Amino acid sequence: MLPPPHAHGPAGASDPLSALGPRELRRRTSAKWRTYPEDVLPLWVAEMDAPLAGPVARALTEAVALGDTGYPSGTGYAEALAGFAADRWGWRPPVEHTALVPDVMLGITEVLKLVTGPGDAVVVDPPVHPPFRAFVEHLGRRIVEAPLGTDLRLDHGVLEEAFARATQRGRPAAHLLCSPHNPTGTVHTRSELERVAALAERYGVRVVADEVHAPLVPSGAEHVPYLSVRGAGRGFALMSASKAWNLAGLKAAVAVAGPEAAGDLARMPEEVGHGASHLGVVAHTAALRHGGEWLDAVLAALDRNRRLLGELLGRHLPGVRHRPPQGTYLAWLDCRGLGLGDDPAAVFLERGRVALGSGPDFGTGGAGHARLNLATSPEVLAEAVRRMAAAV
Ligand SMILES: Cc1ncc(COP(=O)(O)O)c(C=O)c1O
Repeated sequence: MLPPPHAHGPAGASDPLSALGPRELRRRTSAKWRTYPEDVLPLWVAEMDAPLAGPVARALTEAVALGDTGYPSGTGYAEALAGFAADRWGWRPPVEHTALVPDVMLGITEVLKLVTGPGDAVVVDPPVHPPFRAFVEHLGRRIVEAPLGTDLRLDHGVLEEAFARATQRGRPAAHLLCSPHNPTGTVHTRSELERVAALAERYGVRVVADEVHAPLVPSGAEHVPYLSVRGAGRGFALMSASKAWNLAGLKAAVAVAGPEAAGDLARMPEEVGHGASHLGVVAHTAALRHGGEWLDAVLAALDRNRRLLGELLGRHLPGVRHRPPQGTYLAWLDCRGLGLGDDPAAVFLERGRVALGSGPDFGTGGAGHARLNLATSPEVLAEAVRRMAAAV
């Protein structure tokens, strides 16, 4: 049984993650709520249980009322992103160094096509967002792994070895950096990123930073845009409002080039931008321009959920080891102490009727782990941990 619809107190009213009850969420038709049967509580894919931010809903409603449903035009999205980045991170990406792309993952593949050829290597840092491997392999590039350290942070020694292997015989190579890192929630520091940039320069590796989770860094850590660090001028970043404002169904993202990569980005074929939807551009632009207050309410709610998860696990599942995520709304649970085998999420699903992300899908370092989506209400979170505990 799901908890009853949330009673909206004064805190609930301003908490986007508590605004929708289970009956409303069950009516959703997206992957999170439709992949599993009704008796399964879904905390797997990176969708949020929040209603649309007011400014986004208003922008979309106005576009629909006007029949403003044609093709995207202009650089409004990139300008809104530049304003948001300047405001939040003190760094303003030049609009002339940006390109509109259909979404972050397709943007990554298009940037990889600009700087690598078939059979060239792309370095990834597992455990990491499973499409990193899938999209890269589908593109005909070779994966070289540089696993995170046991502290779940980049290991620059391992990265250097991977860069050396990736560029053997002078071949071009790229490093697909996840910043902040999904699934561990690691927020890379400026000095960690500078060391990545220095290694990339030394080996001639092109860094492609996926910063889709960047707005989702609650108190306690600070997102540093990769392109703002010393030595990152030959890199790229992919950015989007899709994670922070739950807009994955409204396709649009922005690719940004460092100053010395702008010539490469200029070679991106014009038709790539045609894959972004105009309504996506409208929604993402409104989110970045006017969605700051809503985002701050989400960040405050995530902060509470991070603490709550720690308390709940301590009480009901002390065998699970977990480092509260510094960023993202994802929690990476080390379940090896529970003796549930390589894929604890499969056991939680079968016995507990709660769906988490399957650790092994995230590659090396994923066995014995599961990923839990915190972008939900405290009631659903408590119910999820209760079901997990019941499965053990
Ligand atoms: C690291 C990372 N990149 C990209 C995406 C997907 O972004 P998009 O829908 O814009 O391709 C996700 C979704 O969870 C993600 O976690």
